[in-house]
Amino acid sequence: LDNGLAFTPPMGWMTWERFRCITDCEKYPKECISENLIMETADVMVSEGYLDAGYEYVNIDDCWSELERDENGKIVADKKRFPRGIKFLSDYVHSKGLKFGTYLDYGTKTCAGYPGSIDHLEIDAQSLADWGVDFIKMDGCNVDNSQMVEGYIKFGELMNKTGRPIMYSCSWPAYFEYYRKPPQVPDYEILKKTCNLWRNWIDIEDSWESVKFISDYFAENQDRVAPHAGNGHWNDPDTLLHGNYGLSYDQSKAQLAVWAILAAPFLLSTDLRTIKPEMKELILNRDIIAVNQDSLGIQGRRVNSGNGIEAWARKIMPIVKEEHSYAIAFVSRRTDGHPHAFNVTLKDLQLTNKFGYIVKDLFNTHRATYQFLQTDEFEERVNPTGANFYKFIPIE
Ligand code: GLA
Repeated sequence: LDNGLAFTPPMGWMTWERFRCITDCEKYPKECISENLIMETADVMVSEGYLDAGYEYVNIDDCWSELERDENGKIVADKKRFPRGIKFLSDYVHSKGLKFGTYLDYGTKTCAGYPGSIDHLEIDAQSLADWGVDFIKMDGCNVDNSQMVEGYIKFGELMNKTGRPIMYSCSWPAYFEYYRKPPQVPDYEILKKTCNLWRNWIDIEDSWESVKFISDYFAENQDRVAPHAGNGHWNDPDTLLHGNYGLSYDQSKAQLAVWAILAAPFLLSTDLRTIKPEMKELILNRDIIAVNQDSLGIQGRRVNSGNGIEAWARKIMPIVKEEHSYAIAFVSRRTDGHPHAFNVTLKDLQLTNKFGYIVKDLFNTHRATYQFLQTDEFEERVNPTGANFYKFIPIE
């Protein structure tokens, strides 16, 4: 979408995967969807260096509103959990130098049963602008596929009319490609013009199975899907799971590396108040963030797999004498014991620079760079269900 936003994939935090629809603040005061959760997260995003690293959006997902609209047809925030309302919260988030996002659904109700926007598009677009919202995820539960494309375009126009630039995350491809049978291929040209990012596929869950399933979708459909990513418009494989319960440290490296290759939005869904230091270090790795945020905006691909180890590659800056640099991740799907060696040549990786590359290890930034020449075999070892991640810079 050409609205001046999302030149690179958006970075931030989002409630859904970790905090779901927890609404009982008496039982779960630290986890319920409430102004406390948002304000405490905003505080930590600034004090712990997330904002400095680029994570700037603080986004509420479903379950934030009252179950009924008010007498003027406006959506209102749940009065117990957001006693000071959304405008107050967005002002608070802005006062920290962060940006504020929230969630609507194009159907009659949201996926969790809160008011939907289908009959209130104009009022809701105006509410977003009045509240100072910077990012909207528009979901697609409780509406027919046949109504969605037109509806999302309409809502985009209404937001545009308010004069407030709002990053627009659209969910209709996920409903077309995954959730509704028979599957339908969405029109990606319309998506690119209408939205800044879009969920293509199933909701992520807190497991390695889920990370593999989503990775496979993006690899198996890469010829069809990857070319649609670019500055201002991104495919979204869903949130990062770092700091939660289901992924090991190695698996967390693998998700981070693949999501960086995919030019995915880096949206964290975790409790940043209690995250363990080693997970924090992963998501704050500046070299990996730089790959994700590479200004060329070219989504990468799975280029090779064998021996249970996959190679994923993305063209990035700098370009040296017309040869791109590459970010290359080796992801192991093996579950048998020790770190396994892999050997590759430049040809296996589809890399063409005839003088070879300087290689930098992105998970071990203290390690010295080394040269990988045309005639070499590159041999490293990857931990089971883990990843190694490198930057290859062409030698002149
Ligand atoms: C759908 C979306 C999720 C989340 C939930 C909220 O399942 O795909 O990302 O927003 O709804 O109910």
